[in-house]
Amino acid sequence: MRRVGGALGALAALVVLASACDGEDGPVPAAEYGERLFNDARLSESAFNSFSCATCHATTLTPPAGRMDSGYTLYDSAFRKTWWGGYETRLLDAVNFCYVNFMRGVAPLPEDSPQSRSLYEYLVSISPNRDAPPLPFTVVKNTVEVARGDRTRGQEVYRAACQDCHGEPHTGAGRLTELASVLPEVTADYGELFPGVPPSLVVIEKVRHGQFFGVGGNMPPYSVEALSDADLGALLTFLEL
Ligand code: HEC
Ligand code: HEC
Repeated sequence: MRRVGGALGALAALVVLASACDGEDGPVPAAEYGERLFNDARLSESAFNSFSCATCHATTLTPPAGRMDSGYTLYDSAFRKTWWGGYETRLLDAVNFCYVNFMRGVAPLPEDSPQSRSLYEYLVSISPNRDAPPLPFTVVKNTVEVARGDRTRGQEVYRAACQDCHGEPHTGAGRLTELASVLPEVTADYGELFPGVPPSLVVIEKVRHGQFFGVGGNMPPYSVEALSDADLGALLTFLEL
């Protein structure tokens, strides 16, 4: 993908969108088309997907107040040497990891597709620093209980980290998708489903691993950088778990 940016940068500056783009005619600058794709869940053809890139990533230098995402802001993301805490060494692979795992994309976006090229141009357009350092991504491998915290802080964390997808606590009102269960009510069955495991630990496991480590689904995992144990403990207090 970076190769595309280098060799074909000038060509990619204009991507002609045959009527693909909301019925508008004429060429749209690639970065602008990329921004639209970034904000549009229909980038993924899966009927079960309701996430866009913007669901999990801010695009400003500092994420807006009251927003705690699993993914980093993608401001200055384009020219990092590695992504995903060093697991990915090509930007397109870093994007496709999200596209396939979280957005249920059937196959990775090919390198020469208008989608990947335009997303690239968009990410470049919000990446003024060509020397931006890679960011850490620390996965909690073995989940253990965390110390409980302040309820008011927990409510803030819920609003900032969980509410966009899961909706209001207890009712799910306003949730992004009905696939995201009502919290904390969904934990009522956990005693039966996971005998001998405290429901809080099941929630910790889900938050820390998302769909990975045999958990399943398409919820993203929260690294230690995205959500501290202290904030997770406060959240559990708020959820009365
Ligand atoms: C459901 C949440 C979610 C969605 C949707 C999502 N991502 Fe991500 N993304 C993450 C998480 C979590 C990470 C790992 C933490 C990080 O590195 O930002 C990540 C990592 C990345 C990274 C690496 C950032 C870095 O410096 O390590 C890029 C680039 C990226 N995503 C781009 C995208 C793009 C483009 C889309 C849309 C096609 C997208 N993501 C959709 C959650 C998501
Ligand atoms: C990007 C959207 C998104 C965000 C943000 C998110 N979730 Fe989820 N969550 C989902 C979806 C979708 C599911 C159902 C699919 C799955 O299990 O992965 C889910 C499932 C869950 C489950 C399992 C429910 C069950 O059926 O047993 C728990 C627990 C949970 N989320 C807790 C949280 C908490 C706590 C937060 C905030 C720290 C959070 N989620 C943030 C989308 C999200």
